[in-house]
Amino acid sequence: PESLTRLVLSHLREIPDFPEPGVLFRDITPLLADGGAFTELVDGLADLYRGRIDAVAGLESRGFILAAPLAVRLGIGMITVRKGGKLPGPVIGVDYALEYGTARMELRPETVTLGARVLVIDDVLATGGTAAASISLIEQAGASVAAICMLLELSDLGGRRQLQGREVDSIVIF
Ligand code: PRP
Ligand code: HPA
Repeated sequence: PESLTRLVLSHLREIPDFPEPGVLFRDITPLLADGGAFTELVDGLADLYRGRIDAVAGLESRGFILAAPLAVRLGIGMITVRKGGKLPGPVIGVDYALEYGTARMELRPETVTLGARVLVIDDVLATGGTAAASISLIEQAGASVAAICMLLELSDLGGRRQLQGREVDSIVIF
């Protein structure tokens, strides 16, 4: 919705050359630090998904900040999808390619209810590798992904192509 787009846009900070020269980093910490804005964001997201999801999956680490209050607001559970090696077993994992090197996301299947409708949430959709790996894990664990919610989508990086055929709700698209 337009009101959430304006809310997020008005509380972003843009930092040139972070974490590397040539990258324009979009920082959501001003939004989180503003109690009124953060509350309005979580309430707005809850209104978007109420009644159509059974759990919220947060992607480490900034996705956790969004998933936890949203899950509480909706009275449903939160699933943590974590970077490799952080979760105690049994876990399932998916490796995926980065521009340089590889990364891995892991999930404890015991935290996923069979047949649950899960919302995947994170702060930024960039190349889409993190989201695609996380979706694969949730589906391997026997749940379905009802939608993917991203505060920011960096469309130049083509992440949406990895999420073809799915509901991708980006609050702000650059
Ligand atoms: C960032 C961002 C997403 C991911 C998006 O996380 O928060 O999770 O990258 O990139 P992709 O679409 O190219 O996969 P980062 O790996 O910086 O981890 P952090 O949240 O722990 O800082
Ligand atoms: N901001 C935050 N996280 C990111 C970005 C960004 O601009 N690009 C890739 N991950």
